[in-house]
Parts: sequence; structure tokens; C-alpha cells
Amino acid sequence: MPLNATPLTPITLIIFGATGNLATTRLFPAIFHLYKDQYTPKDFRILGIARRELTNDAFRMLVRDVIKQYFGSSLKEQEWSSFASLIEYQQLDFSKRRDYDNLCTLIGRDDVKKPRSKLYYLAVAPEYYAAIFDHIEHCELPMRKKGVWTRVVIEKPFGTDFESAMQLNNRLQKIFHEDEIYRIDHYLGKETVQNILAFRFANGMFEPLWNHEFIDHVQMTVAEDDGVGARGAFYDKTGALRDVGQNHLLQLLAHIAMEKPKTLQPDDLRTARLDVLRKLKGGGPHVDDWVVSGQYDGYTREENIHPSSKTETFVSLKLFVDTPRWNDIPFYVRTGKKLARDVTEVSIQFRKPVQKFFGHADNDETNILTLRIQPDEGIALRLNVKRAGHGRDLQQVEMNYCYKHPSADGHEAYDTLLLDAMHGDQSLFPHLDEVMASWKFVTPMLGSRKTKRTVVLYPQGSWGPKEADELLVRDGRAWLTGALQVCDIHH
Ligand SMILES: NC(=O)c1ccc[n+]([C@@H]2O[C@H](COP(=O)([O-])OP(=O)(O)OC[C@H]3O[C@@H](n4cnc5c(N)ncnc54)[C@H](OP(=O)(O)O)[C@@H]3O)[C@@H](O)[C@H]2O)c1
Repeated sequence: MPLNATPLTPITLIIFGATGNLATTRLFPAIFHLYKDQYTPKDFRILGIARRELTNDAFRMLVRDVIKQYFGSSLKEQEWSSFASLIEYQQLDFSKRRDYDNLCTLIGRDDVKKPRSKLYYLAVAPEYYAAIFDHIEHCELPMRKKGVWTRVVIEKPFGTDFESAMQLNNRLQKIFHEDEIYRIDHYLGKETVQNILAFRFANGMFEPLWNHEFIDHVQMTVAEDDGVGARGAFYDKTGALRDVGQNHLLQLLAHIAMEKPKTLQPDDLRTARLDVLRKLKGGGPHVDDWVVSGQYDGYTREENIHPSSKTETFVSLKLFVDTPRWNDIPFYVRTGKKLARDVTEVSIQFRKPVQKFFGHADNDETNILTLRIQPDEGIALRLNVKRAGHGRDLQQVEMNYCYKHPSADGHEAYDTLLLDAMHGDQSLFPHLDEVMASWKFVTPMLGSRKTKRTVVLYPQGSWGPKEADELLVRDGRAWLTGALQVCDIHH
């Protein structure tokens, strides 16, 4: 349940880009899920907007097909038809002024009877934001009434660097106040990311150890086994650092590294994350000492990719969080495509015991805690025990806990986030200051790579360039992905 579970006012949800990949694979299954479980308001309308010509019925059929894929035979006809009756479609070209006249009329149609709250969802490429804002400003501002709200959800990436994020925000704030802007990073809606806080702050035994005195280093991997697929045109302009590094990876790090928030209220949570993002520090004097960029072999032959593209499909960083808690503890992070497996996890390696008095397995006797974010979500802890029998040799054993909750391609994160946006809870949406702090850290790396072009090729199905392994080897460490099985053992 959301923190604020008060009844919702009548809402019109307006989705720009309603026929696109994001809307069909994530948003509509999530909205239907919320509707089915009666989380949406009694008085609810959904207005889909995209470029192609479609009748209301044709659009409803398109939505039905995607929902059918997710819910299969559990989709009840009666539920579907009452949901379908909430949906309308409006064809529009984002850049054509006159197309918006119809749209404004349609959005405001029912306000005469009873004012409605408006939730705008921009499921479109960022280059269209400016045109959409320019045009809806004329119909949106006069529609504002007492007792109802207007909010806008913006997808990541929010801008392409520090400067463009600032410009985008300036444009947004001409129409919307900060408390009406919901910048989405769907990782924050994931059950397992939220569980990091529960794990840290609801278990008295770990928090006292969560600092440089007991932790040797932290590792994070956000790996995909897929390539760019049909998203080539978007990805080639974006790259791994902007697509995943600036947002998912740094937000994940903020959850691991944050101080205990004063409360779990939105402002306190956002401040706790921001305090980490503002303290990020590169792992050496020269960017190339602590940043490794790679590109998978065969990337330039993919659809819609420039044949001489230098876009990185992999990036690995060594960085520090400059706070008393973390002192000089390195965080090694990496993300990439076409890697050995699809996995997101955080591993924390604890320091070795100071006094050694066991047998020859002493070298390995570190404790490791792995938090698996996806797939097969769970927590594993590696401990040392005495090997049974004579002698005093040690062996490592693993304790596992698996979250047993359905995770269908991430759409459950969108359930949470859409519901929070309807209830006005911004805890799981990065504040402007968080976004700007991340860009401030990441932007110099973009510039440096642009000029130096140090992007190394790596084989598909590997763990990225060997230079990324060397980041750790130089410090006498190694990547831990796969060291613990977490919940793989249950499959
Ligand atoms: N896909 C994902 O899983 C995902 C995940 C996270 C974030 N995002 C972000 O979400 C946004 C949308 O991504 P997407 O993958 O859904 O893109 P997409 O599949 O290319 O969909 C784009 C949508 O915009 C519409 N559109 C494009 N140009 C238009 C124009 N000139 N006028 C009117 N409508 C137009 C398209 O309508 P037609 O189909 O009718 O042309 C379609 O509905 C991007 O910012 C992306 O970075 C996507």
C-alpha cells in the first residue's frame, strides 16, 4: 500500500507515445494490474496519444493484445471490457500546433461537469519534450482548478548531460512546480531495491558493520545478455553511461551508501540519496585510470548503428563516496550489454579477520554479502565454517534467502510508481538535485571519452573488456559475480 492511501480524486491519465514499446510492454500491463486490484480511482480515464491513425477500438485491441500476453488465461472478459471502456485514443503529430486543439478539447471535456486531476506521462523520446511542453502549456494552464492536481511523469534519461538536464528542467518548470514533476527511474520502484533499505535499517546486526572499518569494498553489476535490439537509433546516441550509469547504477549505489534517513518520508529519503550523490569522487587523478569503456564485438553491424560508432555498450568505474562512513573504500561498478548473463547484483566484501589461526584456507576467509536485484531476487551470505573431520581447515558455505514474488519483466515497478504518482508520493522519484548531482559526476567522463575515444572491444557473452578486470586486479581484488549462487540454486 502507498504511504498515503487516501481516496483518489477523478483522474485523467494522458499517455504521450501510447503505441510505443514502453507504453505497451510496461505501462499498460501496470495500469491494468492496478485497475484489476481496484487501486485506480472510481472515476478514471486513459487517453492514449501517438502518431499513427487508429480508431478508439483499434487502439483498445492493441492494448488488449499486450495485456493478454501478460495475463494470459487469467484475463477475464468482463474485467477487460470495463477497463477498455476507460480508454480513448487521439492521433497527433507532436510537432504540429493545430493537432493540439483537438487534444485540449478532449482532455478538458469532462472538466465542465467535475474538475479532474491530470497525470501526463511522457513515454516518448526526449527530443519531443520541448514541442509537447510548448503546446500543452496553452491547454493545461487554464484547466487548473482548486481541489485537483496536475502532475507529469518524465522517463529517464533526464537530459543527456548536466547542461541539457538543466535546460530541460527550466523548460518544465515554466509549466510545472517541482512537486508536480515525477522523474522516473524505474529501478527505485523495484521491490528488491526498496528492500535494500529494509535489509540495512531493520536488521540491527548489519548496520553496525556497514562502514569502512568492516567492509573491504563494494561491487555492483547491472548486466544484460541482450544487445541493442530494436533500440539502436536511441542507444547509439546514448551509450551505457547515460542509459544506465547516470541513473540506475548511481541510484543503486545511493541506497547502499546512504546514511540512515531521518524518516521514510519523501523529503528525508531524497535527501539521504542526494547526500551520497553529492559526495561521489572518481577513483584516480586521470579519468582513464578509473573508467573503462567497451563496445561489444559486432555492435557496429547492428540495425540503426553507425558503422564507425564509438558509443560504449559497457562501462566500468572505480569510485569513492567521500563521507566518514566510507572513507577510502572503493566501489567498483559496471554495466553493459551482451554480457555473460542477465543479472543485477550488489556484493559487499567484508574485511578479513585480523588474527589468522586456521588452516590453509585462510586466504579465502572473507565474508561476502550479495544482494541480487534481478532475476531470481534474493540475498546470500558467505560464511566460513570448520570442515567436518580431523584438522582445522575451513570451508565456505552460503546462506540464502529468495524473495518469492512474481516479477514479470519489471512491470511491477511501474505498478508501484504509477500508484505513487497518483497519490502524490515522490519518495521513489529522484529530485532535481539528485539528477543534477549524478550528471555533475558523470558529465566530465562523457567529455573525456568523446575526445580520447578509448572504447575497447569485448567479445559477446563475456564480462566486458579485460581492462575492467584490471581495475580490480591492480588493487588485489576480483569481480565476484557468480561467486555466490544466491537463488540460482533453486532453479
Ligand atoms: N522501452 C523501454 O523499455 C524504456 C525503458 C525506460 C525508458 N524508456 C524511455 O521511454 C521513452 C519512449 O521509449 P519507447 O521505447 O517506448 O519508444 P518507441 O517504441 O519508439 O515509441 C515512441 C512513441 O512515440 C510516438 N511518436 C514518435 N514520434 C511521434 C510524433 N512525431 N508524433 C506523435 N507521436 C510520435 C510513437 O507513435 P507511433 O508508434 O504511432 O509512431 C510511439 O507511440 C524514451 O524516452 C525511452 O528512453 C523506454
